Amino acid sequence: MLFYEPAERNRDLLPHDPFKAFIAPRPIGWVSTVGPGGAVNLAPYSYFNAVCDRPPMIMFSSDGPKDSATFAGSGGEFVWNMPTWDLREAMNETSASLPRGRSEFEAAGLEMAPSRLVAPPRVAAAPVALECRVVHRVQLQDIDSQPAPNIVVFGQVVGVHLDERYIVDGRVDLAALKPIARCGYKGDYTVVDALFEMVRPA
Ligand SMILES: Cc1cc2nc3c(=O)[nH]c(=O)nc-3n(C[C@H](O)[C@H](O)[C@H](O)COP(=O)(O)O)c2cc1C
Repeated sequence: MLFYEPAERNRDLLPHDPFKAFIAPRPIGWVSTVGPGGAVNLAPYSYFNAVCDRPPMIMFSSDGPKDSATFAGSGGEFVWNMPTWDLREAMNETSASLPRGRSEFEAAGLEMAPSRLVAPPRVAAAPVALECRVVHRVQLQDIDSQPAPNIVVFGQVVGVHLDERYIVDGRVDLAALKPIARCGYKGDYTVVDALFEMVRPA
């Protein structure tokens, strides 16, 4: 069994850091925000997850002050859009670095749909979208209390959009929704299209 401290990785054996392959798959936060001048922004974040459900909260982590974390901070709101198999190319397009003010919706050929309770619009074609209000915006530090570049934004879900065609017997049919997620290395993804069930012991 190999053991190493992250900074001491054997780069001959493991030329690419496997960290992201261990924590996999990572769901993708496809985040829409609005900038101070009203510019609409959309970008994917795979350092993303649900963190609790009472109240429902989600988070995404930005490697530096990118527009999504900056605008979520200034506007206090963001929307999570579910990236699905059908939307995979468009999702990827929205990760391109565009000049501030140029809409990733437009560049990726995506329609916007208005949100109900927050200013950022949602991706019209996404079958699920969660409207969120920001509760924390945290600048991370490392174990030596040195600032890390990452900013984590936590939002509380205040509104849910769900395409009712995906409701089957009162439950959301995840295998039909086909959400995509990030896996190990550059360009690796997976898709949720099959589930297995395991009941917790009493
Ligand atoms: C699938 C995917 C996941 C990504 N995850 C992250 C992430 O977790 N954190 C990050 O800082 N950038 C991530 N990126 C890169 C950002 O999407 C990219 O830097 C984007 O231009 C940021 O846009 P913004 O400045 O409009 O927020 C990811 C890109 C892709 C394609």
